Amino acid sequence: MEAWLITLVSFCVCVCVCVCVCVLIFSTLSPPPTTVKTPPVPSHIPIITPILWLRKSSTELEQTLRSFHAKYGPVVTLWIGTRPTIFIADRSLAHRALVQNSSLFSGRPKSPATAAVLSSDHRSISSASYGATWRTLRRNLASEMLHHSRLASFSGARKCVLNTLLTRLKSASESRHCVRVIDHLQHAMFCLLLFMCFGERLDEGKVRDIARVQRQMLLRLRRFSVLNFWPSVTRVLCRKRWREMLRFRREQEEVLLLLIRARGRKQTVLNDDVVVSYVDTLLRLELPLEKRRLNEGELVTLCNEFLNAGTDTTSTALQWIMANLVKYPHVQERVVEEIRQVVGEGEREESQVIEEEELHKLGYLKAVVLEGLRRHPPGHFVLPHAVSEDVVLNDYLVPKNGTVNFMVAEMGLDPNVWEDPLGFKPERFLNDEGFDITGTKEIKMMPFGAGRRICPGYNLALLHLEYFVANLVWNFVWKIPEGGDVDLSEKQEFTVVMKNALHVHISPRI
Ligand code: HEM
Ligand SMILES: *[C@@H]1O[C@H](CO)[C@@H](O)[C@H](O)[C@H]1NC(C)=O
Ligand SMILES: *[C@@H]1O[C@H](CO)[C@@H](O)[C@H](O)[C@H]1NC(C)=O
Repeated sequence: MEAWLITLVSFCVCVCVCVCVCVLIFSTLSPPPTTVKTPPVPSHIPIITPILWLRKSSTELEQTLRSFHAKYGPVVTLWIGTRPTIFIADRSLAHRALVQNSSLFSGRPKSPATAAVLSSDHRSISSASYGATWRTLRRNLASEMLHHSRLASFSGARKCVLNTLLTRLKSASESRHCVRVIDHLQHAMFCLLLFMCFGERLDEGKVRDIARVQRQMLLRLRRFSVLNFWPSVTRVLCRKRWREMLRFRREQEEVLLLLIRARGRKQTVLNDDVVVSYVDTLLRLELPLEKRRLNEGELVTLCNEFLNAGTDTTSTALQWIMANLVKYPHVQERVVEEIRQVVGEGEREESQVIEEEELHKLGYLKAVVLEGLRRHPPGHFVLPHAVSEDVVLNDYLVPKNGTVNFMVAEMGLDPNVWEDPLGFKPERFLNDEGFDITGTKEIKMMPFGAGRRICPGYNLALLHLEYFVANLVWNFVWKIPEGGDVDLSEKQEFTVVMKNALHVHISPRI
């Protein structure tokens, strides 16, 4: 070999060794520059895994996440579609993010393609980014509809819906040996939310019409959300899906706008004995940034959100609770016993109905509802959150605009908090003097989320659940039909429902 080449190579080797030694010495003297790492990303192959994740049901997603969390810790990233989502399984991290650092974690990711059709460009409470529009819409719902005094104005409607439900269950139980209850529960909740939305009782035909257009959209929402990924590509590849979404929305507008316009005309002659409905409050509302009233599309979007948010969530929870009361007759008996002792049997001969004002005395009933929400939260995740700036959580960087979600169902089953987490034991809530469902001090479970984006309807939901559970078990004995069973397997629809709907034998209690 040429001498100059040998010299050159050995010179290079020398320089390299020197540099390495210098770096080593230097790095032991001064700490490395602080770069915070992003959460671990298990098994990611660009393009392939994001598509695979998109195709998974959320039950499969949950199972996979569980194994990832066991392996990689409580914070992991999954690429779903074109967007990485950070999943948080730990309740104290959820508290740090959602409650202690609420302002940073209260955004929502944009859904650029479908938003124009489904949410009037993010002008619904659940889809609006954290800002003035969201605040106005949310405050309107919270203070104009869900405030105590306003809730009281709907007690007549609740009683009326309850009586219809009891009658329907009675006649169903007389004609059939076993009753599929979810249909009745869903119908009852829907009628109630419809009344609150439009301020009047609608006839059966109309209710069925609206239920149809609402359900067809609701059950396909997950499939439509895929259209937000690579919009230019999916718009072509999934043409049929696009057209279906547009058609569903058009049908929804046709049905809902009839009611909205009718209410608008009536508004000019509103007097004292007419209840104020959600549409009435929306018709008066002004968007703060645009300084204008809501247009018809936005009214449809917001009514749609109101109906969806309050119907399936509550009827799902109700079915899960009733399923457990059937599976565990001693719990059902104890609810009845409490009502008998606290409310008294003698005074209620002519009326079989437990009144709303009596509910606060029923501690065990409350515990049953809470246990139901812990063991079977209707949503196993919250809606996706977006962070507004780079933030460090558990030593991991959550980048600006990053999407974050929380494993609601997992937290309710955490064995460090809940003894025998898979059991159904309402007593566990009895020692706790007033369990805090909002998780302000500490999150033990979060069926309604936590922080600034917490479900604004949680009070109404709890009222509905307590009122209906109390009256359903007070009026009927709920039993497993002969040869039947209560199967607690789950299935993802809009919410996580019973895979095999509850079928029961119902007989009058009194
Ligand atoms: C058992 C019944 C219910 C459950 C389990 C439930 C649960 C939830 C959850 C988990 C969220 C997402 C929170 C987050 O993203 O961090 C949410 C949001 C929401 N819920 Fe509920 N909910 C129920 C009933 C209701 C009712 C009755 C209403 C109103 C009529 C309602 C209205 C809303 C709205 C508007 C949002 C969006 C809030 C925002 O983004 O600021 N929900 N709910
Ligand atoms: C909130 O976020 C900021 C910014 O990343 C961080 O410095 C702070 O420690 C966080 N607070 C908590 C309680 O996690
Ligand atoms: C975050 O989102 C906003 C609004 O969508 C955008 O203007 C901004 O460039 C994004 N920032 C980063 C760092 O992705």
